[in-house]
Amino acid sequence: MSGDGWIDEDDLKETKLDLRLWKTLIRYTLHYRRTSIVFVFVAFTLAASDLGFPLLTGLLIQDIEADPKNLNFPFYIGMFAFLSVSLSASICAFVVCAGKIRTSVSHDIRRDAFQQLQRLSFSYFDTRPTGWLMARLTSDCQRLSVILAWGVMDFIWGTTLMTSISVVMVIINWKIALAIFSVIPILFLVSLHFKKKILRTSRLVRKTNSRITGVYNEGIMGVQTSKIFVREEENLRDFDLLTEEMFQYSVRNAMLSAVYLPLVLTLGSVAIAAALVVGGHQAILGNIAIGEMIMFMYFAQLFFTPAQEISAWFAELQMAQASAERVLSLIESVPDVKNTEAVARRIEQLGSDGHPTSIGKIEFRDVSFAYQTGPQIIRNFSLTVEPGETIALVGATGGGKSTMVNLLCRFYEPTGGQILIDDVDYTDRSLEGFQSQLGIVLQQPHLFSGTIAENIRYGKLSASDAEVEEAARFAGAHEFISVLEDGYQTPVGEGGNQLSLGQKQLVSFARTVLKRPQLLVMDEATSSIDTETEQLIQNSLKRILKERTSFVIAHRLSTIQAADRILVINNGEIVEQGSHQELLKTRGHYFELYKAQAIRDLN
Ligand SMILES: Nc1ncnc2c1ncn2[C@@H]1O[C@H](COP(=O)(O)OP(=O)(O)O)[C@@H](O)[C@H]1O
Ligand SMILES: [Mg+2]
Repeated sequence: MSGDGWIDEDDLKETKLDLRLWKTLIRYTLHYRRTSIVFVFVAFTLAASDLGFPLLTGLLIQDIEADPKNLNFPFYIGMFAFLSVSLSASICAFVVCAGKIRTSVSHDIRRDAFQQLQRLSFSYFDTRPTGWLMARLTSDCQRLSVILAWGVMDFIWGTTLMTSISVVMVIINWKIALAIFSVIPILFLVSLHFKKKILRTSRLVRKTNSRITGVYNEGIMGVQTSKIFVREEENLRDFDLLTEEMFQYSVRNAMLSAVYLPLVLTLGSVAIAAALVVGGHQAILGNIAIGEMIMFMYFAQLFFTPAQEISAWFAELQMAQASAERVLSLIESVPDVKNTEAVARRIEQLGSDGHPTSIGKIEFRDVSFAYQTGPQIIRNFSLTVEPGETIALVGATGGGKSTMVNLLCRFYEPTGGQILIDDVDYTDRSLEGFQSQLGIVLQQPHLFSGTIAENIRYGKLSASDAEVEEAARFAGAHEFISVLEDGYQTPVGEGGNQLSLGQKQLVSFARTVLKRPQLLVMDEATSSIDTETEQLIQNSLKRILKERTSFVIAHRLSTIQAADRILVINNGEIVEQGSHQELLKTRGHYFELYKAQAIRDLN
């Protein structure tokens, strides 16, 4: 479990400004067109109010200078009051708009990412650790929405304000304006220098942080192992080293920021001084009024406020871009297994893929398969299964049994050859249509937090309570459910952890029974059930399997004795096949497996 591997690699990349990426993000924001328009309007009002104060002050001083006796006091008081109200109102509206956009957009991005996760093929998850995906959905989305709301908003406000000040300054007195602008290149260079350093240390902080998370994970997952091997001391020492490193990077990062901000403030003062020098000189020559000069000192100060804010966001911007890239790469990734264009077109035009939804004969024709990341697992595999047949797959671990049923379920598609359903290549069928006919029971049954009834009903959302109970009876789950205090209304806990593994398995059987799938696939579904429970489900299992075509992978050979055909799989090939009795007679692989298990059971 390397907690770092996947986080810092992405983060350490030097990212250039990626316009396409930001366009996509802005598109998310533009979903909320009204709010966005209001927002831009508010940004202008805010800039105008900000700008109004120095202008009004300048005017006031000029008026006092010119003719103090006839000063229009009510006008100035009224204007100042108006500006104050408009400033507070626009700040308030600004914050409300930004908050609204932030919540909405982050919700949308999360929703899209989640939907995409449901849509992606298994192969996507093969190459990405769950931790990576979790980080995309949580911290990346979080960071993105914060940046979108405050970073982008600050940017809009800042640029509006700075542009309007620049324009006003140039119009009123371009010489003083130039004096103030002359500080900008210095600010730019200083920012560039510090931002690089701050960016580097903050990356190091995060890198170390993710390594600490990784060590935490290992500590939690491997706590038993560490205890057995008395590794606690060493683990603790490693951890101390990491946290020490983290501390140092954090301090360095804080120091850099601590120097940078005052520097920017100082530069703001330098700009004011420059305005003072040039303006003062002009005043001495009698070219400008004192009021104008004071106005410019205000301007200079106002001009550098957004510069500080924006430069503070600059480091974040790059990280946000890295986050955005990852989240969008998730949202925009195309599933490997999807309807072919021809099928998609047919579904769009005819409303169906043009084939009956029933599943009859199944044929593997010369199927080969390799996972993206590995060697060929299955080579030229052929098999024909008649409707209603129960096929059992047995054999050593790693032989390719799960891979075969994954191919059958079209979680992956063959890299060579075809899988045909009623003589039609299954890639010529609707993926959703086909998979909705499948019933799959896995070794690790997955329950969702909710009640037992809700979990069973997952198989058919429209099922009545009576149907749910009937399915549970059929699956042999009713016995244990009915003795629970709350019966079917018992909450199963997160991931079903309030139930035993066997009970979870029974609930998932019931769910499958309720769904009435045409093709049933069980991958080691009974391996976690104790012998007693197994006896209990044996009959219902027989009943479940009887009515439909089934593929069963089982460790426990007792589960599959009744299968129509047993295939012994090794290295992606069928090495033996026949019924239980036939295979016992041949005294081959199956016989050996059976004998070994019988001996183990005896002990
Ligand atoms: N998602 C995967 N990505 C890459 N290789 C895999 C994946 N799943 C299984 N394999 C490999 O395919 C081979 C067959 O595995 P599997 O079908 O799970 O066998 P079985 O179910 O018979 O134990 C093994 O060598 C295994 O390492
Ligand atoms: Mg398997």
